[in-house]
Amino acid sequence: MSVELCEMALQQTQALLRLTETTMQEICCRKFSGSELYAEALRRVLGGKGKRGAACILISFQERHNGVMRGRVFHLVADQLVEGSEEVVIPTGSGYGADLAFAEEQQEVMAVNWDERSASVESYQNVFPSAVRSIVGGAIRNFVTCRISGEQPGVITAFNFLGSATEYDASVLHGLAVVIGSLVTLSGEMRETEKAFIYTIEALARACEAAEEHTGTHILRVNRYAGALAANLGLPAHFVESISYSAQMHDVGKIKIPVTILLKEGPLDAAEMELMRMHPVFGERILGDSPRLEVAREIAIAHHENWDGSGYPYGLKGEQIPLAGRIVKIADVYDALRSTRSYKGAYSHAETVRVFRDGDERVRPADHFDPTLLATFFRIEHIFAGIYESLKID
Ligand SMILES: [Fe+2]
Ligand SMILES: [Fe+2]
Repeated sequence: MSVELCEMALQQTQALLRLTETTMQEICCRKFSGSELYAEALRRVLGGKGKRGAACILISFQERHNGVMRGRVFHLVADQLVEGSEEVVIPTGSGYGADLAFAEEQQEVMAVNWDERSASVESYQNVFPSAVRSIVGGAIRNFVTCRISGEQPGVITAFNFLGSATEYDASVLHGLAVVIGSLVTLSGEMRETEKAFIYTIEALARACEAAEEHTGTHILRVNRYAGALAANLGLPAHFVESISYSAQMHDVGKIKIPVTILLKEGPLDAAEMELMRMHPVFGERILGDSPRLEVAREIAIAHHENWDGSGYPYGLKGEQIPLAGRIVKIADVYDALRSTRSYKGAYSHAETVRVFRDGDERVRPADHFDPTLLATFFRIEHIFAGIYESLKID
């Protein structure tokens, strides 16, 4: 291998490693499709000064129901791979794409030059369907094609390398396809795990609400109000996302409170009240020490604390109270006011906003709520009304 080729190999390998590294870091939260990741990898590995790229690259994936290949095309313009605006559709049985990569040759990758297959460059063009000829633009002299396996099968084909398509070009493209294929599979599996996680916490939240009279959509609304408050406070996206599913677990600790107390008509006696006020502590214990449930734990322990220190279980004050707890408190109180409770009827949105402004026998806004959050609530109260309306059927 020449010195230039070695340097190029190193550059291309490093570019692929950097992409792998950033993708691995983002894999939990980033929702990428396979084709996006391939496009990014092609740009980084085959584009750029000093890298040996092809003049034109086609990535296409096979549609499951009809076998048609749909693809995106990239052209090398001043060393950069630029995505073409057109979508390329290659029908089944066109003698190219699926047939070429999957059937004709059972290899995962192959490099082909015109002089290995045809008497002339002109006659070689007949191998390709017109859709492919038109995206490449000029005469096709060589190509490397590589199979993309995994949950979304497809092919990457790179046309017209300078000089000829070599084994080196084939191994670069193959390496890229293998790495990206595993990242796509991994990301798909992470998404499944994430779905299972969300499903489990929803089930837990629901199980704990089931004993109470205000079952069902209360917890979903609290998620949404909390997410809206967090987003409008300008908090980071990962916090907004986290509070939007964690808020529903604010009362998980109530699973430890006897149903007779939860459903008791009229005031609780002192012992019952004392037990009831333990539900934040029970909740914190139930949620355990998983880092994924940290926000949920803060909410469970802190959603009955008051800004002036008059709340429970610890009487925390001001910013001692975790922010997620302060946010969910507003969400929970808003929804409790909008809903029927054993001691009161449901308030309208306007009545609820009035309580947030002037207070009533239970709610003292200036003492109970974080003033910044209260101001945010007044700024977006119409969003609260919208959330209640959209999810009000219990
Ligand atoms: Fe609670
Ligand atoms: Fe609640």
